[in-house]
Amino acid sequence: MQERPVTIDLAVIGGSGLYNFPGLENPTRHSVETPFGQASGDVVIGDFGGRRLAFLARHGESHTVPPHRVNYRANLWALHSLGARRVIGVNAVGGIRADMGPRVIVVPDQVIDYTHGRYTSFCDVEGAEVRHIDFSEPYTESLRRQLLAAAATAGIAVIDGGCYGATQGPRLETRAEIARMKRDGCDLVGMTGMPEAVLARELELEYACLALVANFAAGCGDEAEISIEEIFAHLAAATAEVPRILANLVK
Ligand code: HPA
Repeated sequence: MQERPVTIDLAVIGGSGLYNFPGLENPTRHSVETPFGQASGDVVIGDFGGRRLAFLARHGESHTVPPHRVNYRANLWALHSLGARRVIGVNAVGGIRADMGPRVIVVPDQVIDYTHGRYTSFCDVEGAEVRHIDFSEPYTESLRRQLLAAAATAGIAVIDGGCYGATQGPRLETRAEIARMKRDGCDLVGMTGMPEAVLARELELEYACLALVANFAAGCGDEAEISIEEIFAHLAAATAEVPRILANLVK
């Protein structure tokens, strides 16, 4: 494994609506070569609340990489090789559970993966040792707790727990698909939660998800159709809270 030269207190992978990290001081850009190809963009490392924070825009800084084409392995590898140990994935999601409407923030504790055709393991290369890692708890519980405490300190309401259903995208789901996911036990639906979480686990990174609800998932709200303008308006409102939460996490 590569050397890990820079000490990073917290790494953040920004999703839709979060393409740079507000308040990051003295930023430096790092373009990391990985054995898995190019990350979504440069990792930007800077000072935040007196700590070192690394930021990577999952879809690229101009949102040019769709969920199914994100190079999740390169992204995680890049952060790991720069010295990250704790990673927060910020993800836009649709709410399935009634109390998970637009602008609600959730720290999920479970995942169901409905994606396909993505590279889901670092051992997916010729000659690599095959490992079967434990994934009973897909997120690092201690980091989840820290995230929840940070939100509480910031006075921002966040729901503790919920099952994130990861879909392929980039299209939104049908009502029937969401009805099935609800029966399966999903509370939220998003397109990027997997394989990010499992790849973080393979690299032994601490990883938790901060899910920002942009809309009610198909058939869960009053609207017959989900408008992308509305998604981004709700997302902007929820995203504005993220630096305040994370300021309490890096402390
Ligand atoms: N489905 C999947 N991903 C999403 C949604 C949704 O409704 N909203 C935001 N990301």
